[in-house]
Amino acid sequence: MLKLLQKTGRWLFDPFRRVLDRGFGQQLNPLNFLGALSIYFFWIVTVSGIWLFIFFKTSVVGAYESVEYLTHEQWYLGGVMRSLHRYASDAAIITLVLHIIKEFLYDRHRGNRWFSWVTGVPLLWLVIPLGITGYWMVWDQLGWYVALTSAELLDWLPIFSESMARNFLSADVLSDRFFTLMAFVHLIGLPLFLVFGIWLHVLRINGPRINPPRVLMAGSLVAMTVLSLVYPALSQGEVDMSVVPPSLGLDWYYLLVYPLMKHWSPGWVWALLTGTSLLLCMVPWLPPMKGKSTAEVDLENCNGCARCADDCPFGAIIMEPRSDGMAYETEAVVDSGLCMSCGICTGSCPTATPFRRHTALSPGIDSPDLTAALLREKILEAAERLQGNHRIMVFTCRDNVRSTRLKDTQAVVVEIICAGQLPPSFIDFVLSRNLADGVVLAGCPGGDCQYRFGAEWTSERIARQRDPQLRKRVDNSRIALGWQEPWSVCGDLAAIVTALRESLPTATEAVHGPPPGRTNRWKIPVTAFTYLTFAVIVGYLSVWPRFQLIDDGRAMISLSFSHAGQRIRECRKLTQEELNKLPPNMRKPDDCPRERLPIRVVFSANGETLYEAIKQPAGLWKDGSSNVYKRLTVQGGSQHLFIGMNETGESPDFDFTLEQEVELAPGKHLVVEFDDIQQSFVFKQE
Ligand code: HEM
Ligand code: SF4
Ligand code: SF4
Repeated sequence: MLKLLQKTGRWLFDPFRRVLDRGFGQQLNPLNFLGALSIYFFWIVTVSGIWLFIFFKTSVVGAYESVEYLTHEQWYLGGVMRSLHRYASDAAIITLVLHIIKEFLYDRHRGNRWFSWVTGVPLLWLVIPLGITGYWMVWDQLGWYVALTSAELLDWLPIFSESMARNFLSADVLSDRFFTLMAFVHLIGLPLFLVFGIWLHVLRINGPRINPPRVLMAGSLVAMTVLSLVYPALSQGEVDMSVVPPSLGLDWYYLLVYPLMKHWSPGWVWALLTGTSLLLCMVPWLPPMKGKSTAEVDLENCNGCARCADDCPFGAIIMEPRSDGMAYETEAVVDSGLCMSCGICTGSCPTATPFRRHTALSPGIDSPDLTAALLREKILEAAERLQGNHRIMVFTCRDNVRSTRLKDTQAVVVEIICAGQLPPSFIDFVLSRNLADGVVLAGCPGGDCQYRFGAEWTSERIARQRDPQLRKRVDNSRIALGWQEPWSVCGDLAAIVTALRESLPTATEAVHGPPPGRTNRWKIPVTAFTYLTFAVIVGYLSVWPRFQLIDDGRAMISLSFSHAGQRIRECRKLTQEELNKLPPNMRKPDDCPRERLPIRVVFSANGETLYEAIKQPAGLWKDGSSNVYKRLTVQGGSQHLFIGMNETGESPDFDFTLEQEVELAPGKHLVVEFDDIQQSFVFKQE
């Protein structure tokens, strides 16, 4: 099932990848830097957030006013910063979602890579509340809705003894301390955890790509700034809790699940969120991956040069003091809990050379899945099948699916685990022994190496910039690296083979990028279109489609009060004798049980019962008040409202009632409260 999902997903994803390859080039394809782009957008959020915080006032009245000031009075800087803050947060969610989808589709979350995946899931639980608290702080109509709905969600959890949502029903109970708390959570608490979370997330990766290439940073910043100027982020009206906003522009990136609360109970929303997260955590093991053999060190051939440790993309090799008495200081040790069996370490080991004649080909480090000795045999065997004057030997990594489709009588394919597994000396071997006239190395589609650095390290080794370097005697014009080819041939193995073959006699075309004169006419249209589409999607989903909190023509009623039920039995007067037995500081005339009975509440409108519940007392000892909180809607117009409550939970009679004819205009908000001083219900319409 998941395999089918991955296959279908890749089928849909690959065309996008190819289009972006054409515009941006394989080295700059934004889809290869999704994690890094998310981090970059968080940087923009941080810088713009600092500016906003300088002017932000953490009070009920000040919050809205200060944001309005920034948006309108200081639009040229504060307004742009506000928009950048919002749009970069939204953009981060897009890149984050694509990041998750891509890692899943290309199987980069399985085996020993589970750690990054599993530590990624809590990051979602930090990023989303970060955005939610941001909307809360603006304290416009949307902020009110966000506060109310978040509080309703939190109230479902057994954390608070009092209902938090009640604080957002009328202006007289709302206090400034909520804004101070929000400011702390939004500006310090969550960001600190996020930084720690990201550090943990990439902890097991060697050389994680934290920053995207500069040109992508610049392009993204320009796109977000233009969006901010063309379509500035605005507040959605001052809060008036006596009316329900007709519709709200929701930021769907952060508030996607909130509309569910219109029809679902908070319990179901929590179930959906926790269920999805748990399922997500299990994905790396669905189904369990077949065990691959991890890299093995042969100490007799290891000279402790540490190249394999530098090159291993998963930090699976550590250099430890020599254990075999040889004259070298260190030896390579593989951590099988981290090794992804990619073979890149063999490619980096200077002892992996096929030219050995007298000793067996056993490098310092090798992959049991495809040993260097077996690879040499495969090369010799493949060479025998090659004929003609333009023989090409193609090395493809296992993830390069197109390799199987190559139909070329003068080319043979040798499959390796990863392009980075092939030591440069093997290319030297093929060409200097005249086993082929040219060598093609085809890595993963789009140059986005399955094992992170296979393509990059190979390019550098062939360009003689990284050890082990390709020997100088090898003619580079006889080598083509698939991921470096011009966009017109990249990804198409047959085209790469043909291009190399055509260049062989004259050896004029270098392997690095398109030859002079062949310009990429797709570059500007594709990049411009990508940034434009990205900006439009960011801007659109940050407020559209609009959401209706209540349907047209209806009014909202909130039942919100807490009341203590009666004690489970009556208080008893202590006798003088009993009092004398007690220590003087504990002598109370009455002996009252702590535990209380539940309360029963019924609410009806025009004779129809809309709410009926028995509410248990709060507290571990059931000695607190019973809390009632319920949001309902009724048809606007004249309503005959009734509320009744009894303090013993079971009785059909009511101890307190209120019955009233109320004129409720559509969109109005009425709060039903219990006045503890008057000991009566109140229908409160501000
Ligand atoms: C704040 C959110 C996140 C940020 C900033 C982030 C960032 C990154 C970065 C920078 C990398 C390293 C990329 C590289 O160098 O190749 C990475 C790798 C990865 N991330 Fe995330 N990530 C986030 C959330 C997630 C989530 C939610 C998941 C999945 C549930 C996830 C799954 C992975 C996986 C599987 C890898 C690959 C590890 C590997 O190649 O072995 N990430 N992430
Ligand atoms: S096979 Fe790959 S992951 Fe394993 S040690 Fe070698 S380079 Fe590292
Ligand atoms: S690259 Fe080879 S020789 Fe160098 S430390 Fe690793 S295994 Fe030993």
